[in-house]
Amino acid sequence: EKGGYEHFMIKEIYEQPKALKDTMTSRIMADNDDIILDKIKITKEDLEKINRIYVIACGTAYHAGVVGKYVIEKLARIPVEVDFASEFRYRNPIIDSNTLMIVLSQSGETADTLAALRLGKENGARVIAITNVVGSSVAREASDVLYTWAGPEIAVASTKAYTTQLVAMYMIALHFGRLNGNVTLEQYREIRDEMLKLPEKAQAILEQKETIQKFAYAHHTNKDMFYLGRGLDFAVALEGALKIKEISYVHAEAYAAGELKHGTIALIEKGIPVIALATQDELFEKTISNIKEVVSRGAHVIAFAFEGNDDIAKVSDVAVYLPKTLPILAPVLSVIPLQLLAYYTAVERGCDVDKPRNLAKSVTVE
Ligand code: BG6
Repeated sequence: EKGGYEHFMIKEIYEQPKALKDTMTSRIMADNDDIILDKIKITKEDLEKINRIYVIACGTAYHAGVVGKYVIEKLARIPVEVDFASEFRYRNPIIDSNTLMIVLSQSGETADTLAALRLGKENGARVIAITNVVGSSVAREASDVLYTWAGPEIAVASTKAYTTQLVAMYMIALHFGRLNGNVTLEQYREIRDEMLKLPEKAQAILEQKETIQKFAYAHHTNKDMFYLGRGLDFAVALEGALKIKEISYVHAEAYAAGELKHGTIALIEKGIPVIALATQDELFEKTISNIKEVVSRGAHVIAFAFEGNDDIAKVSDVAVYLPKTLPILAPVLSVIPLQLLAYYTAVERGCDVDKPRNLAKSVTVE
């Protein structure tokens, strides 16, 4: 049941600190340098043979895969391609026994994802499934499984499944990076220690909900929105834009911030809400200049950065500060206000938040 919340979606958004914690419990531990992913049996020797990883999923799970690509490539230095299951399976992909596939599916029953998994296995790939449902089809058919412990997700728009999928991706990337020597023990400890603090930092963000609520109420009648970011922030922008489209039927476009001027900057008109993410240190200055480009065209900008990066307040209408963590972990925190923004916008627009039109929680047809 909804436990006092108005909708399942907001309940599930608030369950994220616990879901994150549960997904890490007994896998990464403060006093232990081993990563224990017991249903992933890949050895150092197995990993040496892998020359390509495909991350395959649909919808929100696909967006977790986009983050996964950045993270696996960064930490394990293995090339990763991300694809929609419904594209991958029909494009005669190059798969052999040196291929590893990671399929992501909250329900574990999505028809296209399951078909992609089968295609991979038929062609000799090893397949890891990341899923939230014990004993689901993808869990049964994959070679290796990593469960997210998000608990049941009822709202059609995925929230806690996404953030726990991110954590699953970090753990796999770290595990591979440790196995193949790309991540030193010192680096591992630094990332692990920061990961273990994510639940409390997620909680701190939830406590800033009023700022997001205010922005949502001020802009809920707009028909278009833009979500901008670079690198991992772009990956989160994709998910933020999807959330608002799914449940409030506002058209939203996620753009790699540096690409805007090569494309649709003409659509940035006076009064358009722009959600700008600037959590990546290396890209911070570049993103700030992209924010200035939209501000000069009259956009209303809400910008997200880590505490201490006060420069965003100078270039935006509303600045939201996230508790400091490693840039690589930022997506787990920065997506939360975007989920809230989608939620409050949908509520204000009178939408059926938990059951958006034309969408199903799990699509078992192709
Ligand atoms: C869609 C849902 O049909 O399937 C999305 O509406 C979801 O919310 C997508 O992200 C993928 O689902 P799953 O269960 O494979 O993660």
